[in-house]
Amino acid sequence: MALKGLAHIALIDVVEGLAKGKALDLSQSAPIEGFASTVQGATGYEALAGSRLVVITAGMSRKPGMSRDDLLAANAGIVGPIAERIAQLAPEAVIVVVTNPLDIMVALALQRSGFPRQRVMGMAGVLDSARLRAFIAQRLGVPPTAVQAMVLGSHGDLMVPLRGSITVNGRPAAELLPPGELDGLLQRTRDGGAEIVALLKQGSAYYAPASGIVEMAGAILQDRHAVLPVCAALQGEYGLRDVCLGVPARLGASGVEEIVEMPLTPDERTALAAAAEQVRAGIKSLRP
Ligand code: 2OP
Repeated sequence: MALKGLAHIALIDVVEGLAKGKALDLSQSAPIEGFASTVQGATGYEALAGSRLVVITAGMSRKPGMSRDDLLAANAGIVGPIAERIAQLAPEAVIVVVTNPLDIMVALALQRSGFPRQRVMGMAGVLDSARLRAFIAQRLGVPPTAVQAMVLGSHGDLMVPLRGSITVNGRPAAELLPPGELDGLLQRTRDGGAEIVALLKQGSAYYAPASGIVEMAGAILQDRHAVLPVCAALQGEYGLRDVCLGVPARLGASGVEEIVEMPLTPDERTALAAAAEQVRAGIKSLRP
């Protein structure tokens, strides 16, 4: 975000010195990179007072073999209180949640902040779509930006990649890849986070999630009205309500300006409903 000059940035971490150290390190790259964004670090939430955008990445990441849902109880105890503090200190902010299990944490942040649904969303679809685009680009030897794809649904096993949305230089991917191979790349996308967790042994993906956050932050802070796949609260769109799920949404300064309803195949509709059912069960399990 600093590299793109998107905002003045405050990093907050409860671990003493961690955010301050990172902030110093980042801000010392400014003279070389030529950005004017300031970066400060803090342990206290007061540093976020008056922010236009707050990104929540706090929480545990997966260990090898864990699913994102295994993090539910621990991360709910972290994200819930943070959402309450944001509501007190930055009551006009847009919140972007990154902590897993993503869709459930978005619902929790929405509940605990008391913000309107336009101002609370999650980052997952941009990342999942980027993974699919990268895999297809590598396979076909084309530039990654030549590949377009949209992945909806939950950020987990019930991800819903829209096959018809996958194009390479404007040509449907189905014309360029045998169906079995495309299926393999879709499955690798669903497992994309776990593949990295298994390799790293500790911690989880970092750079591509960061790029996903920056894409959304840019759309919001620069009021771009860009349509991106994001986790948003649904109230009737796609025939679903009272659930947070990955859907295409137009992002601008006010947050989610509109949820864009794309035509889905019957199978995609069924898959989206199944993902919604699973997320709803997770949200219910949060209630004491
Ligand atoms: C991922 O998919 C951390 O959930 C994140 O890598």
